[in-house]
Amino acid sequence: MFDLRIGRRRAAWLTLVAALILVVTIARAAAVEQTPAAPTPGPSMRLTSTGVYTDAQAARGEALYADTCQRCHGKSLEGDPSKNAGSLAGADFLKARTGQDLGRLYRYLIERMPDDDPGTLTPQTAADVIAYILKFNAFPSGKDELPADAGRLKLVVIGTSDHRKSGSRALR
Ligand code: HEC
Repeated sequence: MFDLRIGRRRAAWLTLVAALILVVTIARAAAVEQTPAAPTPGPSMRLTSTGVYTDAQAARGEALYADTCQRCHGKSLEGDPSKNAGSLAGADFLKARTGQDLGRLYRYLIERMPDDDPGTLTPQTAADVIAYILKFNAFPSGKDELPADAGRLKLVVIGTSDHRKSGSRALR
């Protein structure tokens, strides 16, 4: 009689354990199914296609561009081969820059531009002019400004989810 009770308890435990294993197995299978096929960037990474600057910031950048950059890079950011100043908009620019983070562009501007007077952009004006360049390249605006901070700009990558899916990489 004693033995029989133990036996029933054991059977009940075994049933419970079997049921738990089944539940865990089903949950795992469901989780695997939900995992997206394309790799997703880290939680803090963002693409420039997701609205990473504001219209007000791009407007400030546009004013600075007209005063400080346009004479070499052109009214439509088309560049000027006679001055060796590259285009800042369109297919060639995007091809070269897609996959790069904005920290790199920011540092370049802070250290090198304007070409005839480098070191005169402030962190804020450099971030603003990047906002204008993004806008001109048809990336959408959003509700937060681009930060005037190289470390945080490193987390923003030039491109769209399309380029990520197709697996393109930065060209340099
Ligand atoms: C006096 C002319 C001049 C002015 C003004 C000037 N640039 Fe440039 N810019 C150049 C030249 C020349 C290069 C190429 C430098 C090199 O390759 O070493 C260049 C390169 C660049 C590049 C890299 C282009 C590429 O092909 O990747 C960017 C971005 C840029 N400039 C942005 C700016 C911005 C923004 C301003 C205004 C704040 C500015 N530049 C003002 C002449 C100028």
